[in-house]
Amino acid sequence: MQRIVIRGGGELHGEIPISGAKNAALPLIAAGLLTAETLTLDNLPELADVGFMLGLVEQHGAALVRGPRHVEITAAEIASTTAPYDIVRKMRASVLVLGPLVARMGEARVSLPGGCAIGTRPVDLHLKGLEAMGAHIELADGYVHATAPKGLKGATIRFPFVSVGATENLLMAATLADGETVLDNAAREPEITDLALCLKAMGAEIEGIGTERLTVKGKASLHGARYSILPDRIETGTFAMAVGVAGGSVELVGARPDTLEDVIDVLDRCGVEAMATERGLRVKRNGHRVVGVDVMTQPYPGFPTDLQAQLMVLMATADGAAMITETIFENRFMHVPELARMGANVTVHGASALVRGVPRLKGAPVMATDLRASVGLVLAGLAAEGETVVNRIYHLDRGYERVEEKLRAVGADIRREAGE
Ligand code: UD1
Repeated sequence: MQRIVIRGGGELHGEIPISGAKNAALPLIAAGLLTAETLTLDNLPELADVGFMLGLVEQHGAALVRGPRHVEITAAEIASTTAPYDIVRKMRASVLVLGPLVARMGEARVSLPGGCAIGTRPVDLHLKGLEAMGAHIELADGYVHATAPKGLKGATIRFPFVSVGATENLLMAATLADGETVLDNAAREPEITDLALCLKAMGAEIEGIGTERLTVKGKASLHGARYSILPDRIETGTFAMAVGVAGGSVELVGARPDTLEDVIDVLDRCGVEAMATERGLRVKRNGHRVVGVDVMTQPYPGFPTDLQAQLMVLMATADGAAMITETIFENRFMHVPELARMGANVTVHGASALVRGVPRLKGAPVMATDLRASVGLVLAGLAAEGETVVNRIYHLDRGYERVEEKLRAVGADIRREAGE
């Protein structure tokens, strides 16, 4: 198993290119199953999760033509409507094939998902939505079996709370349903907007894009399209926090500041400058210590849960205290004991973590638990005195493209090596 070794203390200067968004790429690949024609995706990030998702749609019968940052997906025939345990257990987002398969084939069997170990993360909203659209759902042997022999029917679905995945699954399903579907209290994440715009390019009729109420008029079929995936706002926010942690000045090239307004506001409040540029976003911290600010994770446009661990690292060396409250996932503070090993002073009370800033973190061997926690530990290593070794980094490669190369290019002392 590989590990990442970091010697902290240096500032970051230069530029980092931002890749396509993982969380947009995954539903867009699933959307390839909705049509018999070719869906071409550009700006595709090179990540382990993208590889899993492509493997999954290939297994359902799609033909793939891959190029650098590019894939053509042609699901002329669906050879199998089963998403097997072996693939789904590696990545929770595999459940996103459920909506497209039932909508197109009237049937799907999808293993119940695993993925990051952050809380229980059920898929009940996905299933209730499909039921409201006329599907019959059975759970047996660890699989969800959804059937709709006469096809799905449009329905009005009001989500009791915001779910990114359920919104995406049902949005895709609705494009091929008979009649009109309304998704109320829908998630508004930029990745959902990206999916909706691609579905429109494929011939879907969707109104209310970017709002909490999506209205879809179902079509008998969709056609092929070419679509370029939006830049990753979580990767952007992660590198912005890295600059906050290490100091220096870095331009995040290709970033979309309009998808990060709340994050930029938090950075500003704690003393890290982030300014839109013609090419993306420039982030600076010169000399002074950051100050502690209280932050609560929220669905978009609020502060993203996927940047919570990175923010905690930034707050760990702040002047003063910060209260970080996680409202989206239970059990998403698994990085806390690892940060404590590096000298961070964090106390968890239920869904809130009180972070009392210390002047400096100290390098230590640490263990990565989930994707965002892993990158948080890398950031902590940048701020720490001495050497930090982040073990078990396979999570990191699921969501970050060549993270150590990108950080090394702006001056970080970081390398990947073979571990035990
Ligand atoms: C997506 C993102 C993930 C991000 C999360 C929240 C992808 C591939 N992943 O995950 O990186 O952290 O949004 O922004 O885009 N829930 C239920 N029942 C359901 C569905 C969800 O109870 O049927 C709960 C979850 O356990 C969680 C909350 O709702 O507590 C939000 O989850 P959701 O928005 O669905 O997250 P994902 O789509 O899994």
